[in-house]
Amino acid sequence: MLANTVAQNQSRQTLEHYDEIWLFGYGSLIYKVDFPYLEKCPAYILGWQRRFWQGSHDHRGTPENPGRVATLIAQAGSRCDGMAYRVTAEEFIHLDHREKNGYLRHEVPVFLINESGQQVKKLGIIYIADEENSAYLGEDSEEAIAAHIANCRGPSGENSEYLIMLDEALAELGVVDPHISQIRWHLSNLI
Ligand code: BEZ
Repeated sequence: MLANTVAQNQSRQTLEHYDEIWLFGYGSLIYKVDFPYLEKCPAYILGWQRRFWQGSHDHRGTPENPGRVATLIAQAGSRCDGMAYRVTAEEFIHLDHREKNGYLRHEVPVFLINESGQQVKKLGIIYIADEENSAYLGEDSEEAIAAHIANCRGPSGENSEYLIMLDEALAELGVVDPHISQIRWHLSNLI
């Protein structure tokens, strides 16, 4: 699969069957909210884990020196926490371009956690970059991922900034993700 997924996303998934569209963010969508939304709510999805296994040619790296950014890996029994946004269908024109480097939209159940702690299940949308896309980098140790991140930058800035901003946004949500905190710990010894 080509890394540029804009046309695929816009042709394969219509959003007409939704009365409310909830976009679940697990990476930069948690801290870089450059799109209008109707409401937002802390949320989680089941059966997925956040991993820095996707290459970034266009934001936190270059085609010659791709950075490492977050994607989701299917893993039974896992839970991935993030932020859900209720958006209109038009926002996907911008989002498909922003996340064009290998990410495809998928539909999954999203569990919204409201202010009183109750959970509400909705059909939601996530972006996933799987191993079929040509920018995929795959698994490595947290130590090796930190060393990789320390040496990458792209048009959106330092790769390390992406990791640190995500770690801080998760902390604000009260979420501990051991994969992210271990990468950050190794990174702190390098930069
Ligand atoms: C997210 O934060 O959900 C996200 C991260 C990278 C690409 C697409 C979405």
